[in-house]
Amino acid sequence: MDKIIIAIDGYSSCGKSTLAKGMASRLGYIYIDSGAMYRAVALFFLRHNIRLDNAEQVRQAMDDITINFNPDNRAILNGEDVENEIRQMEVSNHVSPVSALPVVRRALVRQQQAMGQRKGIVMDGRDIGTVVFPHAELKIFLTADPEKRVQRRFEELKAKGMDSSLEEVRHNLSQRDHIDSSREDSPLRQAADAIVIDNTHMNRDEQLEYALELAYLAGAVVE
Ligand code: DC
Repeated sequence: MDKIIIAIDGYSSCGKSTLAKGMASRLGYIYIDSGAMYRAVALFFLRHNIRLDNAEQVRQAMDDITINFNPDNRAILNGEDVENEIRQMEVSNHVSPVSALPVVRRALVRQQQAMGQRKGIVMDGRDIGTVVFPHAELKIFLTADPEKRVQRRFEELKAKGMDSSLEEVRHNLSQRDHIDSSREDSPLRQAADAIVIDNTHMNRDEQLEYALELAYLAGAVVE
């Protein structure tokens, strides 16, 4: 049975993970949240006071980090379930500069490519269609109105019992959008052959059904 690679890129809080998870579940594919891997690295750096301007310290830290996902898609850092911690504001505020470091990107991209070797994978992030899987059979670039994204992220954090103001969320998203799209190494870009989905006025189901149609057209087959 033919399996394909599906790459989903876009700005923070566009609903990439929701879509990727939904597609993976319907297609019987593996889902990988590449952002969680950058968040796990950022958490390790915070815990161990790794200075981003100390190349040797950063390189050594990358050698000490192993990231996996458990069957529920929870991020595991060196054997510890860090899924809740990596979603905290402190990590969100620290992750973009960490993810801009070429040493960090090289290590994680290598691991992500290995995860996709047997295809049958949906991965979401910022550089999946451009760098990690430039030959992915389907590339989706997700966008949504910025204020809608702020609202969605705010509601999501609130639902998880995390205490942050609308203003804090707005500031964090605009900072990350700026760093993620202006960094030198693999900035967030729409791949030339990506299909854009603007989900500002779509609900989850509409978005999922539309994206699945694209997957079938790209050669995916339901198991
Ligand atoms: O998707 P997210 O918001 O959880 O991602 C966290 C950060 O990681 C984001 O600000 C940018 C970075 N990132 C990246 O540089 N490349 C990826 N493929 C995924 C995330």
